[in-house]
Amino acid sequence: MKSSMQYYILVIITVGIYFFASKLIFDKVNETSQVVVDELFHIPQGKSFCEGNFSYWDPKITTLPGLHLTSTLFVSYFFACNTYNLRFVNLVASCFNLILFASILKFIYGNYNESQFKIVLQALSLALLPPLYFFSHVYYTDTLSLLFLLLFSRVCFANKGKWLILLFGNLSFGMRQTNIVWVAMVFGHKLLDLLVRSSRVYGNRYLTKTLLSKRSLISNDIDSSKLKRYYTVMDVVVALKFHLTTCFRAAFKLVQLPDLYVILQLKSVLLSFMLFLYVNGSIVIGDKKAHVATIHIPQLLYFLLFYGVFGLPYILAKFISTVKLILNNKLNVILLSAVFAIAVHYNTIVHPYLLADNRHYTFYVWNRWFGKHDFATYATIPVYIFLLFSLYDNLKDQNCITFLLPYTVCLFFALALQRLVEIRYFLIPYIILRLRFVRPSVYVVLLEFLWYVAINAVTFYIFFTKEIKWDDFGEVQRIIW
Ligand SMILES: *[C@@H]1O[C@H](CO)[C@@H](O)[C@H](O)[C@H]1NC(C)=O
Repeated sequence: MKSSMQYYILVIITVGIYFFASKLIFDKVNETSQVVVDELFHIPQGKSFCEGNFSYWDPKITTLPGLHLTSTLFVSYFFACNTYNLRFVNLVASCFNLILFASILKFIYGNYNESQFKIVLQALSLALLPPLYFFSHVYYTDTLSLLFLLLFSRVCFANKGKWLILLFGNLSFGMRQTNIVWVAMVFGHKLLDLLVRSSRVYGNRYLTKTLLSKRSLISNDIDSSKLKRYYTVMDVVVALKFHLTTCFRAAFKLVQLPDLYVILQLKSVLLSFMLFLYVNGSIVIGDKKAHVATIHIPQLLYFLLFYGVFGLPYILAKFISTVKLILNNKLNVILLSAVFAIAVHYNTIVHPYLLADNRHYTFYVWNRWFGKHDFATYATIPVYIFLLFSLYDNLKDQNCITFLLPYTVCLFFALALQRLVEIRYFLIPYIILRLRFVRPSVYVVLLEFLWYVAINAVTFYIFFTKEIKWDDFGEVQRIIW
């Protein structure tokens, strides 16, 4: 009781400080620029809805109208429909994100007596994750889309409720249709978990090596002593073997009413997506030519670089252990290098925006490294290898294959089908993993916080001071993520 009181007070104070400090930056962003890159489409769209004109739709917008409708709901009745107020919806959403991060971390670490301070500081760092933090000050879809995805995750963690999963699942899909991938991941995780668990508690003969008659008492009794906290690939194989020979009967036996509710809700969300696909004819909305889907494997490697920058404290904390892991896996290193080299050689795709749009950091990375030297794409391979092992090192001790497998599949769909390299697209996949890293020490948590504050300071400084003049644009352009 006392410690939960402490937790709530800490959350309230942190959100208060976060809000007032961010409000200062928010006002400065407002003073500095009235149109930040994609806001060119989003703001007129938001204003139009806000003023009650729902017939206008800008075909350049590639997401479902969740952002514009939500901000209309909160702005139009009480406030003026201007840029400042529309953006403000995101700042408020980011405060809720902070609260949800804390709530989720508290749930994850619940059994470990983790200090409240450490939980709340991590939640604050996550809200300050630099690209996410920047987009919380402008009228972009990312912050609000994350809010609904976090609400969705929070109710999924609780594994109950008759309609909240359905509601938040659909809402997060409505903010950005690609969020459906993460709903599918939860669905896959849930099913795989049920399959593996049920295969172990109902006398799996591949597990015990003793053949049980199907009608024996033991084979119908639940023997939970065979359950583990984390499963491996082998456990999945054994489970599949078992279920295939028993026609999945055990799997159905283990499903209880709460599980059934969860599964049905997740399925309904996936169904709404199917309906959308059927009506829209494709996952892309609006500017279809600029967003043609292709296979683009190196996106996964760029995602590792994202981890390399924003997960730096975690990489350093495990540095020695990662090096040992690499030395113990020489054959895998060679195989991976070959695979990465093939992916880089045959599948590096350069979107015209990447070369032309000097308002994004990716442009500078491309022009000063990857695009500048012929060897650069190959020379980065050892970095990818190291980062992949480091990521694995940070995940392996507290993650189950029933999560890692659906996650990897969904990561592929979320990233590797996009031509354009956009740092924003890495946010949600990174946050999902970050919430699942091995519990960090207080030093790592502090380092992460300071690291993010420093990156934010530099990037906002660049945003406020560096001006880019485009001939065909009246307003000065600025550099963002
Ligand atoms: C936002 O910036 C605009 C343009 O500089 C200014 O007119 C307006 O007063 C600002 N809004 C607030 C609430 O500070």
